[in-house]
Amino acid sequence: MSFRVQSVVFPVAGLGTRFLPATKVSPKEMLPIVNKPLIQYAVEEALSAGAEKLVFVTSPSKRAIEQHFQTNVELESALSNSGNKKMLTLVQNIVPSSVECVFVQQEVPLGLGHAVLCARAVVGEAPFFVHLADDLIRSDTPCLKQMQQHYARHHSSVLAVEAVPNDRTASYGIVSVEKEPSGVQRIDKIIEKPEPEEAPSNLAVVGRYLLTPAIFEQLEGRGPGAGGEIQLTDGIAGVLRHEPVHALLFEGTRYDCGSRLGYLKATVEYGLHNEEVGARFQKYLKELTKKI
Ligand code: G1P
Repeated sequence: MSFRVQSVVFPVAGLGTRFLPATKVSPKEMLPIVNKPLIQYAVEEALSAGAEKLVFVTSPSKRAIEQHFQTNVELESALSNSGNKKMLTLVQNIVPSSVECVFVQQEVPLGLGHAVLCARAVVGEAPFFVHLADDLIRSDTPCLKQMQQHYARHHSSVLAVEAVPNDRTASYGIVSVEKEPSGVQRIDKIIEKPEPEEAPSNLAVVGRYLLTPAIFEQLEGRGPGAGGEIQLTDGIAGVLRHEPVHALLFEGTRYDCGSRLGYLKATVEYGLHNEEVGARFQKYLKELTKKI
């Protein structure tokens, strides 16, 4: 049987400044798309890839995420008393009991690379996923599962990538790749948020990484990079000097829910696919577009 990646790291300690004041008290990962918070979509994707350990790297002031994955006795007894079985089942099954949830504190927000390093002791010496919940991906096969399948064949780190417009490179980690005879795209360069004239291509890393533990050695003691933060990208640049790191052009549509426009697009599209309200929402949108 092929090796299955067990741990998924969710860095959720960011400040979510682009969504203030909504994120003043509630973390951006708790913003809902229709009726589920972003972090729950993230967890469902991880579970569908067979993950058994969910590691949330959070900040001391962000209790809501932890609470979302804990039992809420008061709510459950209220739903039970009112006979609302449907909602009771829903809140009781957010995470199966066989799955371990671990909360690690990132005391100071020093960057994504630092957040991943905070999970080192919990992840141990095995390959693991990093999932950024504000990149929401809608696909037939969940993106992490596509990456798991790639790992089963090639046993290397793999990053999900997509082509972005040339003038958007400064918002992403950008890679250049070499195509191997097997068809696999091996990354030969990765740079965090380069200006278009410095970008080695327009292939951007989206928020899904499958990394070997070699990343920890590369992040340990690393100083700040782009934006004054300890960057995961810089750690990966170190890894690819010693081990293959692949790029995977995943199947699916990504919504950048860290931006207002991306968040609105996701809300509309997930709304259209929603079992309960999708058909009525579509009718409403059709009428609305006639007026605008
Ligand atoms: C982070 C990473 C970047 C990656 C992006 C994907 O940036 O540092 O390399 O391309 O996520 O969403 P952030 O969006 O947190 O600034």
